[in-house]
Order: sequence, then C-alpha cells, then structure tokens
Amino acid sequence: MNKETFDTLFVYGTTQQRLQDWHWCIDKIESTNPKIVIEIGVFTGGSLRFWEHIVPSDGVIIGVDNVPQPIYYDWNKNGNVKLVNGDSTKIETAIEVENILNNKKADFLLIDGGHLTLDGGIPERDFNNFAPLVKIGGLICVADLGADCASNVFLSLPNPKETEPHAGMGFWTKTQEVEIQACNGSDKGACERMLKLFHSSYGGHPKHG
Ligand SMILES: C[S@@+](CC[C@H](N)C(=O)[O-])C[C@H]1O[C@@H](n2cnc3c(N)ncnc32)[C@H](O)[C@@H]1O
Repeated sequence: MNKETFDTLFVYGTTQQRLQDWHWCIDKIESTNPKIVIEIGVFTGGSLRFWEHIVPSDGVIIGVDNVPQPIYYDWNKNGNVKLVNGDSTKIETAIEVENILNNKKADFLLIDGGHLTLDGGIPERDFNNFAPLVKIGGLICVADLGADCASNVFLSLPNPKETEPHAGMGFWTKTQEVEIQACNGSDKGACERMLKLFHSSYGGHPKHG
C-alpha cells in the first residue's frame, strides 16, 4: 500500500494500532491478497477500513465485537462487510460467523478483541474458536503480543511464523489445524525474550482493547 493511501486510512485515536507496526502489518496482509477477512475486535472501525480497501468488492469482511460502536466513517460502500454483535469467546459467535462464510474459509484472521487473562485468556479462546474458520495456507495475526495471554497463544504455534519488527504483532501462516492448550506460559524463556524485545522497542506496555 502506498504511503498516501496508508496515511489516509490510518486515523490516530481511532485506528487502535501503533503506526510503525501497522504499516509493516498491512504490507504483509495485503501481499497475500485476502478475499475473506475475519476481524475479532472492530472498535470504531479503524482497522476495518483497511480491509475495505484491500479486499475486492466480491470478497467478504466479517467483523466481530461484543460492544458494537458506531463506525466512524462512511463504511460498507461495497455491501460486503458483515458485523456480528457477539462475544468472540462463545462458540455460538463462531457459528454465526461460520454461517456467513457459507462453507468458505477465511484467508486472513485478525485476533484483536479482548486481552484479559480469563479462563486461559481471551486470545486463546478466540484462536480456538476462529482459527478453524481459516483456510490452510491462510494468515492469522495475533495482536498485542505485549499481553501475556496473546504472546502465549502465538508462542504455542508451530512455524512458519514471524512478528513485525517491534514484536508487537505475530503472524502465523496456518499450515495445519492446531488447538491451543490452556496458556500456562510453558515456553517461559521465549515469552520473556519477546516481552523484552517489545519493551525495548516501546519502553512500556502496549495499549489494550
Ligand atoms: C483493541 S480494540 C480493536 C481495535 C481495532 N481492531 C482497530 O485496530 O481499530 C478491541 C475491541 O475488542 C472488543 N472486545 C473485547 N472483548 C471482546 C469479546 N469477548 N468479544 C468480542 N469483542 C470483544 C472491544 O469491544 C473492542 O472494541
């Protein structure tokens, strides 16, 4: 994505991402030409508008949030955005998304909903619910790796995976079906290294949703 387009789409205070991470992430995601995107954690649409730009009009964008907020821009011009009002940790919500997919699988999944360490962690539950809806070869991004419950999920995944240069966002190319087991920090050393890298980049904990 060229800089001019990126700068138009990125809106401070609304796009809940760090500018320097997000540019790298968008380039990575766009390079896979996704046609079906699932976003967990829509907030006011600050990242949704990037999917609207990237996904072709015959594609589908599904956004899930349990506290739907007004989308702040003139959205859904192509009529291919479906918003699901539901708790992403509940399997019923994943089933609702699956029904929209109508036997298709997603090319890209962003896990950027809750970051609470609740019953093993919301990102873990989001992964278990929604990763099965991504095609083999699809891309899954776990946001906010500075939160233990998110980094534990990412660390549990097999390769190939990578983080953006500041280690705030993790990307896994789904090569196989994986069920994340309860996040108990089993790979504590790797988790600490990742957090150290994160803190040295930002000097603080990332903001969470
Ligand atoms: C960090 S914000 C998302 C930011 C957005 N992706 C962006 O970049 O502009 C997190 C969102 O996750 C939602 N959320 C938190 N817990 C959730 C849950 N259990 N189910 C669904 N959505 C949840 C919150 O309501 C919030 O809107």
